[in-house]
Amino acid sequence: MSNIEFDEHPPWRSPEVPLLNFKHLFINKNVVDLGCGSGDAMLYIRDGIGCNSIIGYNFDLERSKKNRESNNLNIIGGNFLEKKFEGKDTYFLWIEAVTTEVKVLQKLREYKKHTGKKCDVIIAYSISGSCLFDKSVPNENKKWGGNMCKDQKGAACRYRSGVGGLVNKLESFLVNNSFSFEKKLCNYNNGNGCRESGEILYFVINI
Ligand SMILES: C[S@@+](CC[C@H](N)C(=O)[O-])C[C@H]1O[C@@H](n2cnc3c(N)ncnc32)[C@H](O)[C@@H]1O
Repeated sequence: MSNIEFDEHPPWRSPEVPLLNFKHLFINKNVVDLGCGSGDAMLYIRDGIGCNSIIGYNFDLERSKKNRESNNLNIIGGNFLEKKFEGKDTYFLWIEAVTTEVKVLQKLREYKKHTGKKCDVIIAYSISGSCLFDKSVPNENKKWGGNMCKDQKGAACRYRSGVGGLVNKLESFLVNNSFSFEKKLCNYNNGNGCRESGEILYFVINI
């Protein structure tokens, strides 16, 4: 945990502890958070871990108003696929959208082909999480899906039950296109509420 005053709480922002596994990809690096939401993860990477620079992109800027104004975070609005984000050292994405992730990887690979500039891409997937109602979740048999989220009539859990398929789709793309990557499964514990603790699977891709 850290002393940083975050604007949001997990699962709306990345839990901070797992990010410590990627210190070497942040410290002294120029970092980009593609889909930065409120900017809380950027705040932690900059002030909790340390980096050379950090810039974020998000469809809307309303969610990051506090962090832009009080913490001086540099966040660009709009679709990041339409922006020029290439040329940095480390890219962080927690968007769980394979089509977009694939476009980012292709763009960065193309950029390296022309400039020689290498980079690392960290792609996060929230693959299991605590349930407000059923304390036996998560476990091996009850990751996402089932009858977990009574408060939202299962909507969040039904969405999350598709995450395993997205992970497999991204991994197949990486293998079929000869990307060099590793996977790291990390636990987090920020409380007992809905998805306040759980597991995040990170793909770390070297381009
Ligand atoms: C789960 S939040 C992640 C927040 C932050 N990166 C973190 O880890 O705490 C994902 C955000 O990505 C944004 N997003 C997804 N695709 C995007 C795109 N193509 N362009 C801009 N923002 C995008 C969504 O609007 C959402 O706010």
